[in-house]
Amino acid sequence: MIGYQFMGKAHSHAYRDIPFFFDSEAKPVLKALAGRNESKVNKAAEKMGWESTETDWRRLIEREDIDVIDIVTPNHTHAEMAIAAAEAGKHIITEKPLALTLEEAKAMYRAIQKNKVVHMVCHNYRFAPAVQYAKRLIEDDRLGRIYHFRADYLQDFIMDPSFPLVWRLKKEVSGSGALGDIGAHSIDLARFLVGEISELVGTMETFVKKRPLGEMAGGLNAEAAKDQYGEVTVDDAVAFLAKFSNGALGTFEATRFAGGNRNKNKLEINGEKGSVRWDMENMNLLDVYLTDDEPGLQGFRTINCTEEEHPYVGVYWPPGHIIGYEHTFIHLLYEFLQGIAKESQPSPSFLDGVRNQAVLQAVEQSAESRRWVKVEQFD
Ligand SMILES: NC(=O)c1ccc[n+]([C@@H]2O[C@H](COP(=O)([O-])OP(=O)(O)OC[C@H]3O[C@@H](n4cnc5c(N)ncnc54)[C@H](O)[C@@H]3O)[C@@H](O)[C@H]2O)c1
Repeated sequence: MIGYQFMGKAHSHAYRDIPFFFDSEAKPVLKALAGRNESKVNKAAEKMGWESTETDWRRLIEREDIDVIDIVTPNHTHAEMAIAAAEAGKHIITEKPLALTLEEAKAMYRAIQKNKVVHMVCHNYRFAPAVQYAKRLIEDDRLGRIYHFRADYLQDFIMDPSFPLVWRLKKEVSGSGALGDIGAHSIDLARFLVGEISELVGTMETFVKKRPLGEMAGGLNAEAAKDQYGEVTVDDAVAFLAKFSNGALGTFEATRFAGGNRNKNKLEINGEKGSVRWDMENMNLLDVYLTDDEPGLQGFRTINCTEEEHPYVGVYWPPGHIIGYEHTFIHLLYEFLQGIAKESQPSPSFLDGVRNQAVLQAVEQSAESRRWVKVEQFD
């Protein structure tokens, strides 16, 4: 694994829990952790249970005792690392968004195709059992034709103007702001549950344009340096309207300025025979409305998706004994390892990452041109 902070912790924990809860055909061995700072990477490796460390990620990729490369570093590093890993024949999991730009994402996709490795991009929210169950309801035609997809991804961790200019606020490192950091997750949920987006119109805003310099310090915390300021070069907030290829309409909002909303990743889908709605902050619950419920019982019911029938959750606890954020990573990385063991390609793959990136690019183009933009369809 390359990187060891917020996502490093989430992925390390997941690898350790997979063999505990799942009958996984491939058992993860936490062989080596790479970082640039020797003492920090050694400390992280000891805490998170990695056997050895490297201070140059290229050295990690060269190692013959490594089969899988897990990339949990900022977005501008994903392409170079993933392409090098693919060329060395390693299976690859990379954090989202897949890359800085659509061009980079396509180059990554070409590299994994050429070298025939298993690949995934870490859109973990798909793996909440309630979201998986919503997918099953849609596939079983319980909602009928889909009319609406509505997503709000609301955070507030950068509202304070003294929150520093971390990598997430620099375009050359992150690609975009709220759009690629959290909007990309809503786009993935939309593509997973409803289908491809064909065209869109959107707008973006940066409310705080200068901030003190600083670094991420674990989770979404940061440390500011004193008296040095720099320019924010990404969006603080984005909103866009979309048309799906199947005729559904989408509305999306992603912002880090929605005070009081810590990680409010919400979606609602309305179809001809029913609706579902989900909110990450109550991630086990799925609200379901079915039009054929009898009169008098019409309305949303709330399902606690912790029953045997709900995907993944049966391996943990009895019904009603809820699971959390970290389990979304356990499920995703379990699918990745099963893909490697069974020589099959799980989703979301780099292809999903490229298609997601095409939507991100279209939103930026639309915000700039103030026009509807067609989303490039990539096969
Ligand atoms: N799936 C999710 O929900 C989710 C949540 C948060 C972040 N992410 C993604 O995960 C990735 C990492 O984000 P994070 O929040 O963990 O960031 P972070 O700032 O907490 O950690 C980044 C890590 O990368 C290391 N790093 C930075 N530049 C490097 C380089 N050039 N070479 C080697 N190591 C380097 C840092 O030392 C640190 O260990 C990003 O792509 C981000 O978009 C995904």
